[in-house]
Amino acid sequence: MTDGQVFFVDDEEPLRDAVKQGLELCGHPVTCFSSARQAEAQLGRNLYGVLVSDIKMPDMDGLALLRRALEIDPALPVVLVTGHGDVPLAVEAMRAGAYDFIEKPFDTSHLASVVARALEKRRLVLEVRALRQELETGSGLEARLVGRSAAMERLRGQVLALADTDADVLLVGETGAGKEVVARALHDFGGRRDGPFVAINCGAVPAEIIESELFGHVAGAFTGAQKPRTGKLEFADGGTVLLDEIESMPPALQVKLLRAIETRTIERLGSNTPVPLDIRFVAASKDDLAAACRAGRFREDLYYRLNVVSLTLPPLRERREDVPLLFHHLAREARGRYRREIPELDGGLLAALMAHDWPGNVRELRNAADRFVLGLGDVVPGGAVPALQESSGRWGQGPLSDRLDAVEKSILEAELRRHGGSLKATYEALGLSRKTLYDKLQRHGLRREDFLVSEEG
Ligand SMILES: Nc1ncnc2c1ncn2[C@@H]1O[C@H](COP(=O)(O)OP(=O)(O)OP(=O)(O)O)[C@@H](O)[C@H]1O
Ligand SMILES: [Mg+2]
Repeated sequence: MTDGQVFFVDDEEPLRDAVKQGLELCGHPVTCFSSARQAEAQLGRNLYGVLVSDIKMPDMDGLALLRRALEIDPALPVVLVTGHGDVPLAVEAMRAGAYDFIEKPFDTSHLASVVARALEKRRLVLEVRALRQELETGSGLEARLVGRSAAMERLRGQVLALADTDADVLLVGETGAGKEVVARALHDFGGRRDGPFVAINCGAVPAEIIESELFGHVAGAFTGAQKPRTGKLEFADGGTVLLDEIESMPPALQVKLLRAIETRTIERLGSNTPVPLDIRFVAASKDDLAAACRAGRFREDLYYRLNVVSLTLPPLRERREDVPLLFHHLAREARGRYRREIPELDGGLLAALMAHDWPGNVRELRNAADRFVLGLGDVVPGGAVPALQESSGRWGQGPLSDRLDAVEKSILEAELRRHGGSLKATYEALGLSRKTLYDKLQRHGLRREDFLVSEEG
């Protein structure tokens, strides 16, 4: 985004010139208008700017302009200039929805700081709108697998490329990272989309019954098997099977599963008749299966068979730039579920969302979006200084001075993140001098560039 601009409205020319000069010295481009009508004509929903207007003017006055501006865009920041001590008018202006008011005579540096705050708020409003727009116009895979990080772009490309092949795919990613979303996308965007999609949670089904659950059984196959049963793999014929939490598949069944994948046939329990299957297998794991193999918990042959094509879903904390767009997406979904309006997202919350580590990944973010839409407090788990909530193990050992150092570093990181890398905001929030903050950053090897929030959100 370019710099935000100031629309300044006053019927006195000398004041216009002075304000223009003063604000431009502070880095804010200014357009002056000698009447409210002229200014009104230039307002629009996409204006990245703040309107500053005198109240007492002939023809249309500042309050009327304020009302017009808010009709055009209720989120447009308007600052009104009142006469000195004119409290009733100032109150009226605020009631009518002004962002702020300043009293005449004012000095430019005061106006400049009010303008800077208003512009920051405006920037966020426009950013949120742009994100919303993007979600509304998005279709296909972007609407399902949301995110603009390079990692997500790449993932979407891989999903589209693989969907139409019949290759079996292994998905690896932390809890809540989106493995099921990807599995469904592989199914829905491929040639099997009209066939069944069957998800089997290998971790949730007790070991004793998972075999019959998967492969089915004939009557009398074991005690209690009075009726024959069709296994889930057979149900998935012509479609896709998601073997979720494959890492918890009991070892004995791993052999049987490998055979099913390799021969594309199954045998029901108690039967010797092979049943041919047309299935695409997608397996999902939270663990590094190679390590599970080394630890003897997972069969290598099955691992190699599954790992021919594998996709890794990065955790959310490694693609923080996706948080705002995802949050909006999830809040919109929540709005549909709860039939509520989405409350206004302020900069503080956005910064806290960006700062949190999201160990539960998108699922945790989704819960946060639910709380946000329902108007419940504590949207971001852990509150203001998320780093302090993290595993105490990081500073749980060693001499006291080392532990304090670790705590200090975490707080610095959290504050930098919260303020999007702004040093000024950080040293003010922490009550440090600029120099002390610099020294501390250097000592902890922290760089502000690592905390900058990307402008596109
Ligand atoms: N990129 C994404 N865009 C939109 N929604 C997502 C994305 N990734 C995940 N989600 C949503 O987050 C939630 C968790 O995703 P999903 O169930 O796919 O995670 P998972 O990796 O299978 O987790 P687990 O290992 O715990 O089963 C779901 O509600 C899903 O719709
Ligand atoms: Mg899952």
